[in-house]
Amino acid sequence: MSGLTEKSIKVFSKDKKEPLGDLYGLFFEDLNHAADGGLYAELVQNRSFEFDPIDRSDYHALTAWEKVERGEAEVTISVEDSFPLHENNPNYLTLKTKKVGDGAGILNTGFNSGIPLKKDEFYHFSFFARVDQAEKKTLTISLESKEGVLHASEELSLHSSEWKKYSLTLQCKSDDQSARLILTTNQTGTIYMDMVSLFPAKTFMDRENGLRSDIAQILADLKPKFMRFPGGCLVHDGSLDERARDSMYRWKNTIGDTEKRPSRRNNWKYNQTLGLGYYEYFLFCEDIGAKPIPVLPAGYDPHHHRIVPLENLQPWIDDALDLIEFANGNVSTTWGKIRSELGHPEPFGLEYLGIGNEEVGEPFFERYEYFHRAIKEKHPDIKLINSSGPFAAGGEYDRGWDSAKKNQSDLVDEHYYQSPEWFLAHYHRYDDFKRDEPKVFLGEYASWGNTYYNAIAEAAFMTGLEKNAHAVGLACYAPMLCNVDYINWEPNLIYFNNHQVFGTANYYVQKLFMHHQGDYTLKTESTGLSASEPPSIPTIGGQIKLIGEQSKAEYYKITLTNLETGEVKECPNALVENGIELLLGELHSKHYRLSFKARKLEGTRGFKVMFGEKDNQKLFWEIGGWQNQDSVISSMVNGRGSVLTQSLFTVKNDQEYSLDLEIKGRKITTYIDDEVINETVDKLPNIKPLYYSASIDSLTNEVIIKVVNVKDEAVLTTIDLQDYAKDKLKGTVYELSGYELTDVNSFEAPDKISPKQKDFEASNSFYEYEFPKQSITVFRFQ
Ligand code: AHR
Repeated sequence: MSGLTEKSIKVFSKDKKEPLGDLYGLFFEDLNHAADGGLYAELVQNRSFEFDPIDRSDYHALTAWEKVERGEAEVTISVEDSFPLHENNPNYLTLKTKKVGDGAGILNTGFNSGIPLKKDEFYHFSFFARVDQAEKKTLTISLESKEGVLHASEELSLHSSEWKKYSLTLQCKSDDQSARLILTTNQTGTIYMDMVSLFPAKTFMDRENGLRSDIAQILADLKPKFMRFPGGCLVHDGSLDERARDSMYRWKNTIGDTEKRPSRRNNWKYNQTLGLGYYEYFLFCEDIGAKPIPVLPAGYDPHHHRIVPLENLQPWIDDALDLIEFANGNVSTTWGKIRSELGHPEPFGLEYLGIGNEEVGEPFFERYEYFHRAIKEKHPDIKLINSSGPFAAGGEYDRGWDSAKKNQSDLVDEHYYQSPEWFLAHYHRYDDFKRDEPKVFLGEYASWGNTYYNAIAEAAFMTGLEKNAHAVGLACYAPMLCNVDYINWEPNLIYFNNHQVFGTANYYVQKLFMHHQGDYTLKTESTGLSASEPPSIPTIGGQIKLIGEQSKAEYYKITLTNLETGEVKECPNALVENGIELLLGELHSKHYRLSFKARKLEGTRGFKVMFGEKDNQKLFWEIGGWQNQDSVISSMVNGRGSVLTQSLFTVKNDQEYSLDLEIKGRKITTYIDDEVINETVDKLPNIKPLYYSASIDSLTNEVIIKVVNVKDEAVLTTIDLQDYAKDKLKGTVYELSGYELTDVNSFEAPDKISPKQKDFEASNSFYEYEFPKQSITVFRFQ
């Protein structure tokens, strides 16, 4: 015991415990326009005239395009497909100029408010065009403000009656965040065009078909160990036909010349050009030093129950084998050669591969086995990632883990989006996980929100991930990117518009943990830092209601039994429709049971009960909720939900169900027709004085200690590093503190919440430190 203060953390710097490997990385999915209109630097929206109502009901082939008819000019524009540039890219624009006036042509409005331009910078324009035979044409390519102020202009001479690529570079005279790309002609006649593209010359690492440098840079700044891509739900939400517009994400569609890549309906309700494809993902990973973790569909779409028959599974397995060859094969292999021809003869060094994304249902796990066997047989060193559904516990979660254990998957992908309180209450989640079983890939997680409070809760939880490095192999916050004008999902790690980007408070936590991961955890001992047991645990008492949500159902034979007193209350029968909430009563006992019969009459969902409504919390049991596919118990704290457990269940119309909800302390058990369907404990956070972890960076021999103080009071603690430095301790401390819990970063104050850094020196190997209230502190001792 170090002895200077009542509380201490002793770190044994010579006692390395667990390798931390590739623990912290990135999750990338093209939602919130993360790729098109985001990381992918293309400035033209709908460059190949392929937008379609299948992507989004208000899209059409001319979305983001407008006619230009200045003065007396007269043009018609139409989208045709009789002589396409490529079969995968059928549409092209036909511009017919009848009168040239003061400018006849078309313009593109870009994404967000328009095309962002910077003074003196260069922009590469390119397009494919053809003209009718012997009709040589001149086209002026300009960048203009919305009001018509000219920023740049160059001329192109078109002469080919076959599709031909033309390009030029424009230099911009002024800054503008809402500019337009304008193509005008001063000759009458017809011009056909496709793949109209404008890229800033300055892309990340100056790559062609490259990435927006500010967004790529903020990602690179994190120094992630890996990047998972291309999603998310977009991997498996789609049809089985790889040539269909709404197909699942098939990687082979995403490589090679961009004009030959098909356009894809992104399930987040927009169009995906696939300009940012697998080759670009691999390159980006290499550029930022992150290991690539592709995730492939397994011929199963759990959202629409599309299932490839087992006898047709081989092409899907071949996709996986070919991808490994594409990434790692030498140039004499078929796919290694293709990679080389794309410009990368050296292998990309793929180590991990995910099969499936948050899968539910036996058909996936049946298919997973075939993938696993075929891949391991040919590539035993590839670490395979199985899936455990979209929730932190329950039947589908267990099914995923059982499959992973049976098949000896290397990792299991876990996903959960929960309240900050859930994260604090589940700090010990992985303590009992076994080292000789598949490791956890926490492939998607976030607490609901981007406030400083969320960041603190996530930081505390992450020290728990590090302490359990024997069980947790990889972890990435999700989602990562969000264009503020196209939001599908909140919260996110990073927000951007067409010219600005900022990291949230959560970003700065991830950054701290990534920069100071270390490569081994160290043994620690602490004094005075355990959470004190609360005098009593609150009951799940309060109001009980029946709720109508997208359904109409009869509820009858409703009884509420107080299991402590035996008292039974009978409630009247009810017909509950969408939008109706019906109060059954209020219970304050520790143990009770709600029993009822229910019959669904119509609607897309089943039954819903709210219980334990008290103060800032309430709980729900939903039977046949989203897509009428499961029975879920969830809690809501301060308006932020957490799914506690989920199991598959579908409610049939006109069928009577016997339903029971039993509460014993904080244990919740539900029964359908007398069979247990869900069982869970609604844990409450029992906040510790400090959350901490210790690791070492073996290369520099620096000891790293991360400490999170969640409470509203400073905590004085001694850091004891006796075996590390005999006389003097010195190093750097990085700290987040002094914010309101509700504080957030924004475009106006992008680094309001960001770590402050200072050097320190102590005269001996004990270091007394007052951890400010609600703070995150990282020490790097040299
Ligand atoms: O991260 C957003 C979405 O959440 C992902 O697409 C999906 O995997 C999860 O449900």
